[in-house]
Amino acid sequence: MQVLTRVAEVRSHLDAVRAAGRSVGVVPTMGALHRGHASLVDRAAAECDEVVVTVFVNPLQFAAGEDLEAYPRDLDGDVSLAADHGAAVVFAPTEDEMYPDGRGAVLTQVAVPALSERFEGASRPTHFSGVCTVVAKLFNVVGPSRAYFGEKDFQQLAVVSRMVRDLSFPVDVVGCPTVREPDGLAMSSRNVYLSAEERRQSVVLSAALADAVEAFGAGVREGAALEQVMADRVATAPAGVLDYAVVVDARTLEPRGRADEHSRLLVAVAFGATRLLDNASVLGPIGGARG
Ligand code: PAF
Repeated sequence: MQVLTRVAEVRSHLDAVRAAGRSVGVVPTMGALHRGHASLVDRAAAECDEVVVTVFVNPLQFAAGEDLEAYPRDLDGDVSLAADHGAAVVFAPTEDEMYPDGRGAVLTQVAVPALSERFEGASRPTHFSGVCTVVAKLFNVVGPSRAYFGEKDFQQLAVVSRMVRDLSFPVDVVGCPTVREPDGLAMSSRNVYLSAEERRQSVVLSAALADAVEAFGAGVREGAALEQVMADRVATAPAGVLDYAVVVDARTLEPRGRADEHSRLLVAVAFGATRLLDNASVLGPIGGARG
């Protein structure tokens, strides 16, 4: 497996791969890879001839005061996980390579405002344009036919899918199921920030989703009632502060007054400075034990 840091090296390597008729899949990441990322690489390796894992902590998607500097970094660990799961290339560019004129000098931004303003975007107004801009750049560098994203960041998956559709990127965006700890916590590179007590209480996110799935299964259709079920569960975690617990249409992210089989449950809870996200279809299932 190769570790490449320059755009030109990645392009010339992958030009040859494509010229040989081999398909390229990409797994965009910010590193600190865990089992959730491994599942994306596994899926990409099963469906594509050559898999590229990108590792880049993208400053454009962090606002001032967020955890850009503290974000966990472990390139050696990332390279070995990517190799173990069948990646052919890790592309780990420096910030200069991605933003040669400086991050403040990036004048072109890609944004999907209608899908980016609510939920995560409400507390992080510049986040999704940073994500879209770097994903568009990575697609232009790698030229994949398929790109793999976790459903764990459901709004990100919706925003990126829409960008690809609206800008006619020749890329299939593949959403992959959330991977969970045994107690139900969705895997995330940011889980390492949790104290032992916060980690214990963080199970309320998946438990809140499971409660709402159960209520939907029992016939509750009122969006507000399902949202209250989730909020009630989150309230049992004294260290957690609910940001949102909502029922939306999975395709548009529009709030749903009445839930149906297309509805998605989204929940975000802050534990100190760490915001945790989770989501699920109202039909479930949610893996992991109930909290
Ligand atoms: O989900 C992430 O890790 C990042 O938002 C992404 C998609 C790699 C863009 O930096």
